[in-house]
This record gives sequence, C-alpha cells and structure tokens, in this order.
Amino acid sequence: MHAAVVRHFDHPPRYEEFAAQVAHDEHEETVDVVASGLHPRVRSQANGSHYTSTDELPIIPGIDGVGRRADGSLVYFVLPDTAYGAMAEETVIDTRRSIPLPAGADPIRLAAAMNPGMSSWVALHQRVEFATGQSVLVLGATGSAGQLAIQIAKHLGAGPVVAAGRGADGLAALRGLGADDTIDLGAGPELVAHDMAAKAAEVDVVLDYLWGEPAQRAIRPLATKRRDRSRLLSWIQIGAVAGPTISLPSAVLRQANIHFLGSGQGSVTTAGILAALPPLAAEIEKGSFSIDAVTRPLADVESIWNAPRAGPTQRIVLTPSS
Ligand SMILES: NC(=O)c1ccc[n+]([C@@H]2O[C@H](COP(=O)([O-])OP(=O)(O)OC[C@H]3O[C@@H](n4cnc5c(N)ncnc54)[C@H](OP(=O)(O)O)[C@@H]3O)[C@@H](O)[C@H]2O)c1
Repeated sequence: MHAAVVRHFDHPPRYEEFAAQVAHDEHEETVDVVASGLHPRVRSQANGSHYTSTDELPIIPGIDGVGRRADGSLVYFVLPDTAYGAMAEETVIDTRRSIPLPAGADPIRLAAAMNPGMSSWVALHQRVEFATGQSVLVLGATGSAGQLAIQIAKHLGAGPVVAAGRGADGLAALRGLGADDTIDLGAGPELVAHDMAAKAAEVDVVLDYLWGEPAQRAIRPLATKRRDRSRLLSWIQIGAVAGPTISLPSAVLRQANIHFLGSGQGSVTTAGILAALPPLAAEIEKGSFSIDAVTRPLADVESIWNAPRAGPTQRIVLTPSS
C-alpha cells in the first residue's frame, strides 16, 4: 500500500510504498482509509514533539479518520498510540475505538471536525459540571478547535461566550459562530488586560487552547476583577499553541477560587473520550456546526505539510483516492 511515511522528525512525511499492517486479534480490523485530518496533534506526532511520542521511526502519522470496512460500510475511528497511523491507503483500527456511520455520512466533515470538536465537547462534559447559562471564555478562538468550542458551548446551553484570538479577519467571523464578544489578543498588553477585565472577568469556564504568554496575561485580570472572587472559575487547559509553560504567581491561587485542570489523553479516560464520539458525530452529521475543511490528495502529503493555510481555520483532510 501507499502511505505518508516519516523517517526523520525534522522532515515532512513522504508518500511511499509501505508494508500493510495486519489485524492481530478479534478487536482489530483493516479498513480502507477514506479521509484523515491533518490536526496539530498529527503534526506534533510527525515531528516527535507530542507528549505521547516515542523515538520510534519510521512512523505513519494520523490519529483518526473515516474508513471503509470490507462490507462497504463507513466507520469513524480513533487510533490507539501506534506507529502505523491513518495517513495511508489502509490502516488497522481497534473496533472498540470506532463508531459506525450512516451510509450517506460526509467523511470530509467528520475527519475535519471530530478531533478539534472533541476537545471542547469532552472538556465541558467530562472535566466540569457545566450548567446551562454558564459563561465561557475561549482562549485561542480563531483555530479549528476554538471555533468549534464557541459553537459547542452554545449548543450545550452556554450563556455569554467570549472569544479571544488574534487576527482581525478571524476574530470578525467569530460573532457569526455565536460569540457574544471578542478580545483581540494581538492588541497591546494593557489593552488586552483591560478587555479581559471588562469582558471576561465574570466567566465560569475558560477553554484554553493557547497557554504561554496569552494565558499568563489573562489569568490575573480574570482572577482579580470578578465581582465575587469566591465564585468558581474553572480554567481548562486543552492546547499549548502559544507555549508549553507559564509563570503563575502564588497569590492568584489565594485571591480567587480558580481551578486549573486539563483535558486530554490521560486526564480523561479512554471510555470518557469514546463516549463523546457518537453524539458529536451525530451533531456534525446534522450540520449543527460550521466547519471549514479542504480536501487534498494523500499523494501530495510532502508538499502540503508545510504549505500555508488558505484561511485561519481551514482544516486539511487527506484522502488516499483523490
Ligand atoms: N486536549 C485535547 O483534547 C485537544 C484536542 C484537539 C486539539 N487540541 C489542541 O488544541 C490546540 C488548538 O488546536 P486547533 O485544531 O484549533 O489548531 P489550529 O486550527 O491550528 O489553530 C490554532 C490557532 O491558534 C492561533 N494562535 C497561535 N498562536 C497564538 C498566539 N500566540 N495568540 C493567539 N492565537 C494564537 C492560531 O492563529 P494564527 O493562524 O494567527 O497562527 C490559530 O488560529 C492545539 O494545541 C491542539 O493540539 C487538544
């Protein structure tokens, strides 16, 4: 079969012939891959920087996708940590980590949206007791996951949703997705601190895709400017696009009832992640969320890998057959 193959962590995957893997037990099954998303998590898998990464090479990247079973039916699958991922003509799935899809399902929308969508779906279902009417700040709202987080929070009954991100065009589009207010993180530090205090100090939940400097700058205004600092503020760390570490003054933890927690592989059980798949897939299929996806042939993976994106939120989906 052909696959995207990583042989060096400092070079994009190449389209090559590669030995097909075989199913080993009753839970494994070989499927033809129909579509697989090029998520940030896949990039970090391919360059060896993800926290689950081993130094094993070669690898085929790709953590999820839509596949066709031998009987012609479609499945959405999430792969276990494996060196033989979804960016191939065939992959071996674990049937316990896959869900059947209806015959008319749109593989591209699902491959594009399930991974970024799961981040907020799981965080709001599994990491906090999210209640109707609660207010949310999405930190890093212009990306695929952030855009879906706005829509998913609203879908789950959120009250005001404040979207913080950078880039005027990307930010302008967020109101159309349900954001009640926006904060431009590209403005100067004083203006950002002012806007955080004025627009986001009363939120109940932060969905944080950035960490690093933007998170560090947002913490103090949120912690100190809320009317009742004993009211719970849940800060859910989901991604670290802006940096892996922050400096956290100890006073913040005394000044406000702020809980820092994370959501991802490890902090959420596999069962918890799997529970999210059917309802989220159903909403994506129903068209409940706006998703910007673009399809590219798997054979062009090497040139696609580092090419600039056409839009701030566009998710590339690789298809072996196009
Ligand atoms: N834990 C989980 O369950 C889970 C699940 C899915 C995703 N994630 C993680 O969530 C993060 C976001 O994923 P994604 O799919 O949304 O990625 P994405 O589509 O690539 O979006 C990233 C966004 O972050 C913006 N950004 C980068 N640096 C920034 C900064 N310093 N300040 C403000 N905005 C900045 C980018 O803007 P520019 O275009 O201007 O650079 C872009 O809009 C990734 O780290 C991903 O691995 C976690």
